[in-house]
Amino acid sequence: MFKLAYVSVATRTLSSVDLQNILETAITSNRDADITGILLFNGTNFMQVLEGPQEEVEKIFAKICDDDRHRNVVVIYREKTGAREFEEAPMLLQIVPASHGVAPDGMTITKDIALFLPSTLARHFRTILESFDTKGG
Ligand SMILES: Cc1cc2nc3c(=O)[nH]c(=O)nc-3n(C[C@H](O)[C@H](O)[C@H](O)COP(=O)(O)O)c2cc1C
Repeated sequence: MFKLAYVSVATRTLSSVDLQNILETAITSNRDADITGILLFNGTNFMQVLEGPQEEVEKIFAKICDDDRHRNVVVIYREKTGAREFEEAPMLLQIVPASHGVAPDGMTITKDIALFLPSTLARHFRTILESFDTKGG
């Protein structure tokens, strides 16, 4: 099992429809590639975790890097891990609070992202995900 996480910046204001489109593509192709994970969006930045066979994760990540809906993709975690931890979905989208900017229209903001993180997650990695925000940005 292999885990990769990155942060990036949306290139424009994304609507809930834009996000649904991203999610639909992600769910379909991740399911085929045996990839699971979580996508966090705060209206400006993405943070995404991809988990699965390394080759598949790298392949999909290369496509994600080429996507012009976001830029400045920075890898924050890249590690071989034991068992799969993000088992809930091929990709789970959660909108998190931002200290600036607004959530896309009609999308519910998740106040406590910890509820959606696997309990087995390494502490340092969990902290990164839980603190995803753009304070003072
Ligand atoms: C923030 C963000 C996250 C994405 N996450 C995934 C993902 O988890 N899996 C995926 O297949 N595509 C994801 N995409 C879409 C890919 O960038 C790309 O559009 C998709 O893989 C289709 O590529 P293709 O038409 O060349 O096969 C994401 C795009 C963005 C902007």
